[in-house]
Amino acid sequence: MSPPAVPRVGVLVSGSGTNLQALLDDGVPVALVLSDRPGVAALERAAAAGVPTEVVDRAGHLPDRRQVFTEAVVDVLRRHEIDLVAMAGFMTILAKPMFDAFEGRVVNTHPSLLPAFRGAHAVEEALEAGVKVTGCTIHVATADVDHGPILAQEAVPVEEGDTVESLHERIKAVEHRLYPQVVRRLMREIEEGAR
Ligand code: GRF
Repeated sequence: MSPPAVPRVGVLVSGSGTNLQALLDDGVPVALVLSDRPGVAALERAAAAGVPTEVVDRAGHLPDRRQVFTEAVVDVLRRHEIDLVAMAGFMTILAKPMFDAFEGRVVNTHPSLLPAFRGAHAVEEALEAGVKVTGCTIHVATADVDHGPILAQEAVPVEEGDTVESLHERIKAVEHRLYPQVVRRLMREIEEGAR
């Protein structure tokens, strides 16, 4: 029997792309980087690594045409024969067709210890709440934003005098170590037919 093909990983980005970089630096075979907007640093990182890029521009779609936007994203991922989708700072909420097309195969990293501080302002809200410990969560993404099954978590202490930036930097440092490990675990599960 021939060994199963290595799963093709697609990474969804919107911004600086440091988590994408961590995946690339770890040697995760990223087959596609898809951005929801042009001109972001993450696209430059992909290009520098020789990874194909696509932009499905959210401008003109959001907020009214989320379904159409999502279908366009799914089409691109299918065209590139993607098996596993890693969201890495992707800032557009995708509609149900995404999670039907890639059920159990969309993974996200979020900068808080879920279920605390869901949403786009997790670091800021953790600081405002005065918690002493926050962290990051890597979870299966579902249509219910920041609610999917948790795959990995790690705590990050809040330090005296932390700003949103300083705290987020320390959380990201943990994400950069943890995310490649989890993505590789999911790749293995797909190869073994377990996901
Ligand atoms: C990360 O902290 C991630 O958890 C959140 O957005 C940030 C993305 O950073 N969803 P980057 O674009 O990977 O640098």
